[in-house]
Amino acid sequence: MRIATIGAGYVGLVTGACFADMGWDVTCIDINPQKIAALEEGRIPIYEPGLEEVVRRNADAKRLHFTTEVSEGVPGRDAVFIAVGTPPRPEDGHADMKYVHAAAEAIAAAMTGFTVVVNKSTVPVGTAREVAGIIGRTREPDEFEVISNPEFLREGAALEDFTRPDRVVVGARSERAADVMRQLYKPLTDQGHAMLVTDPESAELIKYAANAFLATKITFINEIADLCEKAGADVDQVAQGIGLDTRIGPRFLKPGPGYGGSCFPKDTLEFVTTARGYGAPSRIVEAVVEANDRRKEAMVERIETALGGDLTDKRVAVLGVTFKAETDDMRESPALTVVPELQRRGARVVAFDPQGMANAAELMPGVDWAEDAYGALRGADAVAILTEWRLFATLDLVRIRSALKSPIVVDMRNLYDPRIMEAAGFRYISVGRRSVG
Ligand SMILES: NC(=O)c1ccc[n+]([C@@H]2O[C@H](COP(=O)([O-])OP(=O)(O)OC[C@H]3O[C@@H](n4cnc5c(N)ncnc54)[C@H](O)[C@@H]3O)[C@@H](O)[C@H]2O)c1
Repeated sequence: MRIATIGAGYVGLVTGACFADMGWDVTCIDINPQKIAALEEGRIPIYEPGLEEVVRRNADAKRLHFTTEVSEGVPGRDAVFIAVGTPPRPEDGHADMKYVHAAAEAIAAAMTGFTVVVNKSTVPVGTAREVAGIIGRTREPDEFEVISNPEFLREGAALEDFTRPDRVVVGARSERAADVMRQLYKPLTDQGHAMLVTDPESAELIKYAANAFLATKITFINEIADLCEKAGADVDQVAQGIGLDTRIGPRFLKPGPGYGGSCFPKDTLEFVTTARGYGAPSRIVEAVVEANDRRKEAMVERIETALGGDLTDKRVAVLGVTFKAETDDMRESPALTVVPELQRRGARVVAFDPQGMANAAELMPGVDWAEDAYGALRGADAVAILTEWRLFATLDLVRIRSALKSPIVVDMRNLYDPRIMEAAGFRYISVGRRSVG
């Protein structure tokens, strides 16, 4: 089969590379000429473990192509995936659909033969119909069908998630379009991965409902963590105790500084706005959005309290600025709330992140960037661990102790055992557990 992706970002590039790896012929199209130039030279513009190798292998095999030109990539394709961004509109939280609309217009102008246009971007319910309306302005109904095929991959584990999905969701109106998707995903369904075929509206809502549910689960355990701190319980034990219940499950029960990233914040906002628009408001998800915003701010208080209630002229080392480990993505990272607020309250921030510093530098003016974790700690009044990078969990405690001016560790990811930290002479504040020292 011959397919194309409009957009070669986290989702478009992973989708394109993985389909090429299954043997299909794929062209990734992006309006960003630097991105395409880098990809043509075998350089990956994002950090995603394992992706570079898959891209290179399939580009070398001439199954994966890159272009800025829709007129090169779209004609004659069985399916064209729209994988452009859908960021929230600042004024009302709704997904900004301008990139999707532009992609739809470009596809309409370039496609030849029956083309399945696939909404891979996360888009509000009703978008398949809307995109069909755009393409239908210049094309006959029998030339195309617009379907929904939401993506559930997680950054940092994107290849694994794409090639071993819990389920593939396809929202199509006709069997003809559904069959194109069945053939495309056959290498995965042959291995036992489930494909669920629904109507487009249900597929669109599945994506938002899934993300709203996961964001709720995270926010729930964060609230339990707050209660644990007050009541003298241990959130890790509570999470384990409830997670062993198969009706609940153990995943997404790790407390932290609040969810961030390119999906949960914007998708919960969009969900709330859409639900209100339909007159079916989601009180639960509205509370989740509010609680998560408050949580990021509360993390600053935690650091300030650890430093005696005054951040003026304090040097705070921040370990990790990306919204989670194994990515360079800074979108909606808790660090974007925590770091500027620390600075506003008078602290000087020195930070280190294994992959995020290039993206973070322009978003966080005034931060001193260290060459490694120990460099960030040198002479600091406290260290705050914001991201769960594995290397932060295995730092040498003796070196940390001697690098810090005062041995205060505020760990928002529970990477260390409080008993060990206490024995090593730290004042150690984690999340949902007893503070020690
Ligand atoms: N990142 C994730 O983990 C993830 C997971 C699931 C779903 N999603 C959804 O997938 C969509 C894309 O997200 P992303 O993280 O890949 O975004 P991204 O910003 O990394 O990539 C989008 C790309 O589209 C390109 N683009 C924009 N308009 C274009 C046009 N008209 N023609 C060609 N290229 C165009 C941009 O230059 C950019 O490279 C979003 O709707 C997002 O919610 C993302």
